[in-house]
Amino acid sequence: MQALEIKKDIFWVGAVDYGSFDFHGYSLSPRGTTYNSYLVKDEKIVLFDTVKDSFASTMLCRLNQVLPQKKVDYLIINHVELDHAGAVPQIIAACKPEKIFCSQMALKSIAGHFDTSGWPPIQAVKTGDFISIGKRTIHFVEARMLHWPDSMLSYIPEDKLLITNDAFGQNIASTERFADEIQRPALYAAMQEYYYNIVLPYSQQVLKLLEQARAMKLDVDMIAPDHGLIYRTREDVEYVLNCYEEFALQKPKKRALIIYDTMWHSTEKMAYAVAEGLHAAGVPCRIMDLKRHHHSEVMSELANCGALLVGSPTHNNGILPFVAGTLAYIKGLRRKNLVGGAFGSFGWSGESVKIISEKLADMEVELPAEPVKCQFKPGHGAFEQCFALGKTIGAALAAKCA
Ligand code: FEO
Repeated sequence: MQALEIKKDIFWVGAVDYGSFDFHGYSLSPRGTTYNSYLVKDEKIVLFDTVKDSFASTMLCRLNQVLPQKKVDYLIINHVELDHAGAVPQIIAACKPEKIFCSQMALKSIAGHFDTSGWPPIQAVKTGDFISIGKRTIHFVEARMLHWPDSMLSYIPEDKLLITNDAFGQNIASTERFADEIQRPALYAAMQEYYYNIVLPYSQQVLKLLEQARAMKLDVDMIAPDHGLIYRTREDVEYVLNCYEEFALQKPKKRALIIYDTMWHSTEKMAYAVAEGLHAAGVPCRIMDLKRHHHSEVMSELANCGALLVGSPTHNNGILPFVAGTLAYIKGLRRKNLVGGAFGSFGWSGESVKIISEKLADMEVELPAEPVKCQFKPGHGAFEQCFALGKTIGAALAAKCA
């Protein structure tokens, strides 16, 4: 296991997890992920974050390449979630740091996750604090709720290096370590998928952090996140900052997403008719059957859309569970600036469209048209109504995007 020098005397010593398809426990990561950890060799030897506990031996092997004596002076814990802090006990045992630095909020998370008896002293730091490690200084920037209360960034001005923990990450397990080593569209898609499933609820904090970073005039030519590829050129740094601003603003895009579940294909046929109505309004769309698509795929697709149309038959006076679960997931991620609508078939009672409409309204989705429901099987009339629903929502979206 090799360490990789990313700047003079600064090394990537993390782990690549090609088998992680369940990121942070709730989102898909079909290309796996990495747990990045960084080592700075100065008068003091400083380690930034660790890896998932199951990768501790991998990380120790990499460390051994550049640090045969294994002695680390300072351990910086930028975030306590276990994909970064899981291996902290093993690293402390092996590298015997004399001090740990973390944010004030991390003190609680650390106490809640670990038995810290036998650990070195832990010093809480806040934005504006810095430590000197020889030729370099490390400046701390709290990034509360980006995405945990304890999240923190570390900045080394002498190297123009910003170590950002979860922020600016992507789920890409690969032999490449740098963002410029893969194609831009693939990078953009991975960043967007990551943002929309992990960071989206904290978009206000993202915008504030970007503003704060600009005000602080941080001179950065490398951003090193804790997941995925490192941005090592000024062009890439600018690119990722601009992408984050775009993701956070959530401006509507002229494209629609139809999600549905179906029992005997009536609601499915309605979905197809809604799609034709959207097309007639000049709005392209994607249709996703929720039996086949995970909620995080839906969220990634929604990143490229300004309209969300949801279909479910009525089942036991409610909606089908995949629809309920997916709507709960989208609501939690607080997607903004959507128009939408509901449709569905029913046999006896027909509550589904009302339930869906209420859920969409609760998510602050604009509902420019009445929902469409049809009993048993859609016929000519129901198809016309579905077509009209798609056309009305398409027109409303087109107006928002104009
Ligand atoms: Fe990748 Fe919030 O840990």
